[in-house]
Amino acid sequence: MQRPGGAVQLAMAVVAVVLAASAGLCRGQLAGGFYDGKCGNSSVETVIHDAVQARLAWDKRMCGGARYEVQLGRRDGTVSQAYMAAQLPGPDVDIPTAIDMFAKKGLNSFDMAILMGAHTVGVTHCSLVKHRLHDFNGTGKPDPSMDPLYVWILTTFACPSGQTFDNIVYLDDPSSILTVDRSYYSQILKRRGVLDVDQKLGDNGATAWMVQFLGTTDFFPSMFGYALNKLAAVDVKTGAAGEIRTNCRRTN
Ligand code: HEM
Repeated sequence: MQRPGGAVQLAMAVVAVVLAASAGLCRGQLAGGFYDGKCGNSSVETVIHDAVQARLAWDKRMCGGARYEVQLGRRDGTVSQAYMAAQLPGPDVDIPTAIDMFAKKGLNSFDMAILMGAHTVGVTHCSLVKHRLHDFNGTGKPDPSMDPLYVWILTTFACPSGQTFDNIVYLDDPSSILTVDRSYYSQILKRRGVLDVDQKLGDNGATAWMVQFLGTTDFFPSMFGYALNKLAAVDVKTGAAGEIRTNCRRTN
């Protein structure tokens, strides 16, 4: 029988290989410092950095998480169509389908598990959770994969039966909802994944070890930056494709 520590060591070895293999990844013209010298004497990156710092200083609730370099140089597309939203996985997607959808964008299953850690911040709504709380698959009972105490907390305080408005539900433990930390994964390990897909990530044979690893070590915040950069390079427009908008809210 494999010791629990052995599983974590194996996971760390896999992580090291994944990161090493990706270190020299070429992402078109995307680069840190892309805008250096491209805006007269002002440094675009310093202007944005200072604005973000000022916002963080103003709102003390926004804190926590690792720093990571962002690659710049992407251009905006000129077309946005509703059907594209259908390409996004829904809250009840099964893990093999989700893995397949991410793979089509060049992201592997480990990238996916790390990126779903974005649910360490933000909210969902009762309309997407209530089927897990009250009448799961027509059984008249809650989803058995959810911790009964958590079912009680959510049904009592967030989504009571018969509620008429679509209340918000935190995707992570409310005490760490504004911090990018491993708590999303440790909640799943406690069977407190809020969306169906969150809990499935922890229960599926292909991804359970990732949740175990990310939920029991402190690697997530730095790995999140790496995976976000990979996501940010998906279908990215560079060179003469797309355009640089003069107004961020609309095409030129
Ligand atoms: C299989 C993959 C994923 C599924 C099925 C999924 C599904 C969802 C759903 C259903 C919501 C709640 C929306 C609502 O109630 O209005 C949500 C929220 C959110 N998702 Fe995901 N998601 C996935 C992956 C990701 C990824 C890769 C990221 C970012 C890297 C991400 C970032 C977020 C954030 C930040 C929120 C909170 C939004 C807010 O507070 O308004 N998700 N997701």
